[in-house]
Amino acid sequence: MDQESWDALDHFFCEQLLSPDLALDSALESSAEAGLRSINVSPNQGKFLQLLARIHGARRILEIGTLGGYSAIWMARALPSSGTLISLEIDPQNAEVARANLARAGMGSVASVLVGTATELLKGLIDERAEPFDMVFIDADKKSYPDYLLLSLQLLRPGGIIVADNVARGGRVIDPDNHEDDIVGLRKFFRMLASDTRLSTTAMQTVGSKGWDGFSLTRLSTE
Ligand code: SAH
Ligand code: DHB
Ligand code: MG
Repeated sequence: MDQESWDALDHFFCEQLLSPDLALDSALESSAEAGLRSINVSPNQGKFLQLLARIHGARRILEIGTLGGYSAIWMARALPSSGTLISLEIDPQNAEVARANLARAGMGSVASVLVGTATELLKGLIDERAEPFDMVFIDADKKSYPDYLLLSLQLLRPGGIIVADNVARGGRVIDPDNHEDDIVGLRKFFRMLASDTRLSTTAMQTVGSKGWDGFSLTRLSTE
């Protein structure tokens, strides 16, 4: 199997299972026009996040890493009209593009984008005693996943879930010769997930239009 086959099968899944969607399509178009990198989740991954949020009955979702708001639109649509999605983004231009995309998708009143370094924004939410979140999606710089985990856990309700994107990175996570910051960060992220007895975690590899990667899914116990 190669990238071409993965692309073709992802295309088949999306064509069969996902309805055409103007707001999502135009979010990707306007992101491309603004020069954003196309590192958003794929459509079927977006729908996976949306289904997880809905199955979990999420009312408050925290996203770390907004880009053009593509994954945010998918998840925000899982929320009731009284729900809240807060997405954190370091780049003000990305945040602008994302806000416009969220507004065009009709999600302007449930979703908001905060601009700044995610660790600082997370500390701010902790300091202001933000209402706990039901679900956190970690998808910003991979080297900081350990920090994002520690801070997210202070914002997550008991029984809440954390999904992290890009935890496989084409298998580089277990390459002993790879000492890139992102990869080192991901390995530490796994050690932390494994050693915290309040957490129950799995990780899945994925192939598809975004290459070979994966996500982890963690639940914080209610004890
Ligand atoms: N979740 C998006 C993709 C996010 S890409 C989607 O699937 O549609 C990662 C994003 O994280 C980029 O927009 C990048 O600017 C942002 N980012 C990187 N480092 C960050 C940091 N330290 N704090 C906040 N955001 C950061
Ligand atoms: C990168 C970041 C992502 O969140 C992603 O899904 C793919 C690639 C990156 O920084 O290369
Ligand atoms: Mg990602």
